[in-house]
Amino acid sequence: MYDISELKRCISDLYEKHRGNNAGEVARYIPELGKADPDLFGISVVTVDGQEFSVGDHQHEFTIQSIIKPIAFLLALELHGREKTLEHVGIEPSGDAFNSVELHPQTRLPYNPMVNAGAIAVASLIKGASPDEGIQLLLQRLAIAAGRELRIDEKVRDSESLTGSRNRAIAYLLRNFDVIDDRIDHTLHQYFSQCSVLVNCRDLAMIAATMANVGENPASGKEAFALTFVRDAMAAMFTCGMYDYSGEWAYRVGIPAKSGVAGGIMAVINRQLGISVYSPRLDARGNSVRGIAVCTALAEEFGLHAFEFMNPGSNFLRDA
Ligand code: DON
Repeated sequence: MYDISELKRCISDLYEKHRGNNAGEVARYIPELGKADPDLFGISVVTVDGQEFSVGDHQHEFTIQSIIKPIAFLLALELHGREKTLEHVGIEPSGDAFNSVELHPQTRLPYNPMVNAGAIAVASLIKGASPDEGIQLLLQRLAIAAGRELRIDEKVRDSESLTGSRNRAIAYLLRNFDVIDDRIDHTLHQYFSQCSVLVNCRDLAMIAATMANVGENPASGKEAFALTFVRDAMAAMFTCGMYDYSGEWAYRVGIPAKSGVAGGIMAVINRQLGISVYSPRLDARGNSVRGIAVCTALAEEFGLHAFEFMNPGSNFLRDA
């Protein structure tokens, strides 16, 4: 049996324990990301009844990067439904790096919405008629989920756009197989912009808690995402959210999660809790080193693994 005060104690302890962990490297392939202070470290949690707790640099803003992918997938499903969306992107782990220039050999579709190819296909589905439409839609939903207005870091977006040849190659591959329409620059503008939304650690925990609360922000009670499709996004996170570490993550940690190359990780404990860790040093697969360590330890301590036989974490809210 655990209560929220035990969770707070555990998070403070984990923060102190992992502060000295300097393993990993800040992402530099997007030049603007290379300027991040590698020592920044924050942890936030929000429960589905709106209690929250944060430690460290939880107010520091960074770009959401790939953590936007499950949210963008959710919006594509809302706009187009399952059948049409899944005509453009699969739902199978690839086992390959997030930026692989590849399609599934049989379906000729991107493997899943969590790798860049799938996320670019999804960006095409939500981009709208003008360069701003799809971005505004995403920002409106994120504002409800995070509980505050969010904005795009144009420097990071332009930096990625200037150096994003690999993502351009993926977009042209998608166009070749008719996965996306011929408005390739518009699709890439949507993709680069949505990766560059500025969030802090607490925002991400609130967005995660909104997902855990099946689409409704636990603090405001406002609906950010359609209840029907939250499960689709969580399933994609569970099976594919940590890239070529996804299988091991599902086995060891057992929580739907998504990482981003700026150093964020967002994890969702269904119907209970949103967790976020920010620390810019990444491992070779592009996942935050401290983020993985903190989530792994939290899952272990509170039995948060989806298939934990006791799952004592389910008592957070009862005991609060
Ligand atoms: O497309 C890219 O390379 C980045 N904008 C996003 C990649 C990312 O966050 C992968 N995460 N670990």
